[in-house]
Amino acid sequence: MSQIYQLSEVAENNGKGGKPVWIIYKGNVYDVTSFLKDHPGGAELILEVAGKDATKAFNGAGHSSDAVNDLKKYKIGEVAINSQPTAKSAPPAAAKSPANEKLPPKEPMKESSSSGFLCCC
Ligand code: HEM
Repeated sequence: MSQIYQLSEVAENNGKGGKPVWIIYKGNVYDVTSFLKDHPGGAELILEVAGKDATKAFNGAGHSSDAVNDLKKYKIGEVAINSQPTAKSAPPAAAKSPANEKLPPKEPMKESSSSGFLCCC
């Protein structure tokens, strides 16, 4: 459901040339443009990590849990994890699964047209 962003997309939104200020924190993308002026640590610190992964800088500043909660208000999506293939096991699983093959329905054993089950011929 969440919007997925490429790292390059996030990098473009670095606050330069009137662009919004996006940061990454623990794999999530935040648009903190409107928060810059309210940041107790000053706008400059956030601008240093604009368009980048701010996880280390954020944690390094020893923010309170309130600050972490504040962050939620600005979430706009998640970073795409390209290193993980999306349809990991689908093709091999489908290929080697005999369960997917349709076998003709087993017919009930037909009564032989001859007289019985034992045949001496
Ligand atoms: C972008 C998301 C950020 C949010 C929502 C945020 C929020 C806050 C909040 C609420 C405080 C007040 C103290 C607290 O509750 O911990 C604070 C203080 C502070 N923040 Fe951030 N912060 C963000 C990013 C950063 C970044 C990237 C840095 C870079 C190192 C930073 C550095 C600081 C510093 C140094 C203070 C202490 C300011 C002081 O006590 O004078 N913050 N931040």
